Amino acid sequence: MTSILVLNGPNLSRLGSREPDVYGTTTWSELSESLSSSAESGESIDVRQTNDEAELIGWLHEAADTNAEVVLNPAAFTHYSYALRDAVAVVTSAGLPVVEVHISNPHAREEFRHTSVISGVATGVIAGFGVDSYHLALAALRARR
Ligand code: DQA
Repeated sequence: MTSILVLNGPNLSRLGSREPDVYGTTTWSELSESLSSSAESGESIDVRQTNDEAELIGWLHEAADTNAEVVLNPAAFTHYSYALRDAVAVVTSAGLPVVEVHISNPHAREEFRHTSVISGVATGVIAGFGVDSYHLALAALRARR
């Protein structure tokens, strides 16, 4: 059984009503349900969201301890959280993949979003495809097994 944690940072629970011109109209519960129900045989997909940096770091430690693959949308933590970067490195240096995802394309937005402190330790990055970015990340995990 392959465990996949789909981890989401601050404000992503507001999807559907938060800046729909940027993030689309799919709600958080619709996204969460579509990801959970897309598990293939031999996979479990656990979708979580938190506004708390410490909780997100704890989930990454859990991934390292339980051999889980990770899809991570770090949200605004992307741009400044060295603590989250170090936690991602805990997972990837254990040989487990972490795919950084973004719904929007941060490079086409404000200057402060052009920097990701996460990308340098992630396995790969998928951004700009709306909520499909998550499904593309799952496909990337499956392709590299
Ligand atoms: C985001 C992009 C970030 O810049 C922003 O802070 C988010 C969402 C995205 O999915 O496009 O909260 O990670």
